[in-house]
Formats: sequence, C-alpha cells, structure tokens
Amino acid sequence: SDTINLGIFGGGTVGGGIVEILQKKSAHFQKLTGKTINVKKVCVRDASKPRDFTLPEGCSIVTSYDDILNDDGIDIAVEVMGGTTDAKDVVFGALKNGKSVVTANKALIAKDLPEIEKLLASLNDDTEFRYEAAVCGGIPIIRSMQSDFVGDDIKVMSGIINGCTNFMLTAMDRDKKSYDEALGQASDLGYAEADPTLDVGGFDARSKLKILIRLAYGMDVEEDEINCRGITELTKIDFEYAKMLGGTIKLLGVAERNDSGEVSAFVSPCYVTNDDPLSSVNGATNAIEVVSSNLVSSIYIGQGAGRYPTANSCINDIVALAKGDKTPLPFNPKSETKFSNNYSSTFF
Ligand code: NDP
Ligand code: HSE
Repeated sequence: SDTINLGIFGGGTVGGGIVEILQKKSAHFQKLTGKTINVKKVCVRDASKPRDFTLPEGCSIVTSYDDILNDDGIDIAVEVMGGTTDAKDVVFGALKNGKSVVTANKALIAKDLPEIEKLLASLNDDTEFRYEAAVCGGIPIIRSMQSDFVGDDIKVMSGIINGCTNFMLTAMDRDKKSYDEALGQASDLGYAEADPTLDVGGFDARSKLKILIRLAYGMDVEEDEINCRGITELTKIDFEYAKMLGGTIKLLGVAERNDSGEVSAFVSPCYVTNDDPLSSVNGATNAIEVVSSNLVSSIYIGQGAGRYPTANSCINDIVALAKGDKTPLPFNPKSETKFSNNYSSTFF
C-alpha cells in the first residue's frame, strides 16, 4: 500500500513531538519513502485531557490498547507511554500481530530486550523492532553501537547519560537553584520520567548503561548488579567543595571491559575537573565517550531528553521502517566474559 499507518501508544511529551514532526515533514517523508506516513490512532490514558499538539485529520484518540493492536490496517506501533508492564503487553502484542515496533522505553528494553529478540527471531522477517530514542534521547548512539564498531573492540563507555539530572546539576551548580526547584523545572520541561525517582536515583542511567553493555559487549547484566548511586544526597556544600577543588559534579555512567574480558560498570555522581570536556556539558545535553581499539576515542554529544530531540530519534526509526530499511543486527556475539563490580571504590 502507499500508506503506512501508525498507532501511537502515548500522547505526552514524546508522542506529541512525533505527531508534530510527522505533520510538519509529511511531504518530505512522502518523497523520501514513496509512502504517506499517517497517524491513524493515538492511545492515551485519559481521552478528555487537553493535548498540546493537533491531531492529524482522521486520527482518533483511543484508550483501549486493542483498538491499535487488533487494527489490521496499522503497520507500525509506536510505544511512547512508558512503564514495563502495560508497555510490555503492547510491544509484545503488536509484534505478535505482525506490526513493527518503535519505542523510546529504556526501562522496558533494559528489562526485556533478550525476550523481545527471541520473539523477533520467531516472527517473519518483515517485523522490525527499533529503539533509537531509548538511550540518550536525540543522540544516534544505538545505531552507532549497532553498526560502527563491527571491526573494533570497545574498551570503555563513559559519560552523562541522563538529561534530567544533568539539567538539575547544572541548575544547582551554575544557577544556584535548590534541588526541588531544579527537579520541578526539569519535570516542566519534559525531561523527567513519569516517576522522577528513576532519574534522580540513577536508575534511568543504569537502564541505559545496561543496554549499551549489551550492544558493546554482547553481555546481559542484571541491572541491580551495576552499582548505582543517584544525586539525591547532593547538597550545596558538595558543589562548593567541587568548585574549591577546580571542578564540578556530574552524574556519570561508566562501563569498562578490561584486558581479561571482565566487564565492570557503575552509575554515580563524580567529581569532574574543569579541564575535562564533560564539565561543560550542561542542561539536558548528554555526552558519551567510547574508547575502542581502532577508533581510539569517539565522543557523542547532543540533547539527551526533551520532546523534539527524543521524537526526532523515533521519527528516524519510523522513516527507516517506511523505507524498508532493515534494523542492523548487533554485531557482538554473546560474550563469555564475566561481570564484576570492581568499580565501587571510585564512587564520589
Ligand atoms: P509522558 O508522561 O509525557 O507521556 C506518556 C503518555 O502515555 C501520556 O499521553 C499518557 O496518557 C500515556 N499513557 C501512560 N500510561 C498509559 C496507559 N497505561 N495506557 C494508555 N496511555 C498511557 O511521557 P514521555 O512522553 O516523557 O515518555 C514516554 C516514553 O519515552 C517513556 O518510556 C520515557 O522513558 C521515554 N523517553 C522520554 C524522554 C523524554 O525526554 N521525555 C526521552 C527518552 C525516552 P495521558 O496523557 O492521558 O496521561
Ligand atoms: N528522563 C530521561 C533523561 C529521558 O532525563 O535522560 C531521556 O532518556
């Protein structure tokens, strides 16, 4: 058919951005893919809630998952509602019903990617699963990890991988905001998770690190094996000390494979000196350095959270599916390496 119909689960920060970009760029996407990309249905919790985006003509708001899952006219399900229970049902339901899936849900992928890949392997080849937006919002890190290191060996991945907390730390350090003011602002700007504990507790960064570890090292780590400390205990005095020492504090996610193949990882607030490039990565910007044998050091930097950066990654996935592009397969075979937590002593 000349039309690709989408069913979007979620009409919030990210879902609204996806609808807006699709409308704005519809003629361009038509030229690029030869298809009309049409949003047929948007599923939300509360249909009566006012939306900050305009629904395309003919698109209906629904509240039942089955309205999308059982609609044979829908080709792609976009899951941007969040959570790991209902979201899992809709992702699995859509795939089983022959729909490709695009999602931004790192919590779900961190938990269930092996199961999702197993299901995909049992389905026909046209059913695709893409999740570019799940790690670092607008930064194309997933596709880089899936394709650019095929002949390389990744040693270290480290950086700022949560936009909400980096926004908060910037606001607390540079703008002297209180923790609560900073969190309120981050939520208003659409950076925080529905449950901000995931951000401030470091758990969202840990989910992303787990996904990166799987892509880089072919290894499935239990999330709670990764040492994780968030920013909840930081106070003004910590920033003052960091300043006196000539630096600042950033919430970092770090994973490393040593020469014997052992992988270790942590999420923690860290002291970063002013001459470290990460010290000037502010607001919702994310930055990851990948240290590898061939490329030596590759730095990815960009907006890690927020409506348009995140929607942009989902749009890239949707357009790739409309063009018929195949999702790159992770190149790293399942590794035999061990996970160990020998990083705990480097905590801030
Ligand atoms: P929002 O809270 O802004 O939006 C969630 C949307 O999903 C709302 O429209 C809500 O409906 C709907 N929804 C939630 N639960 C249900 C349910 N059980 N049934 C039907 N609809 C439901 O979240 P975001 O857009 O910020 O985030 C969505 C996903 O994207 C999450 O997985 C998040 O982790 C991920 N993500 C977010 C980023 C960001 O910067 N915001 C960046 C990268 C990933 P209603 O409006 O009626 O309440
Ligand atoms: N809450 C997440 C963050 C959204 O702030 O990084 C993007 O993954």
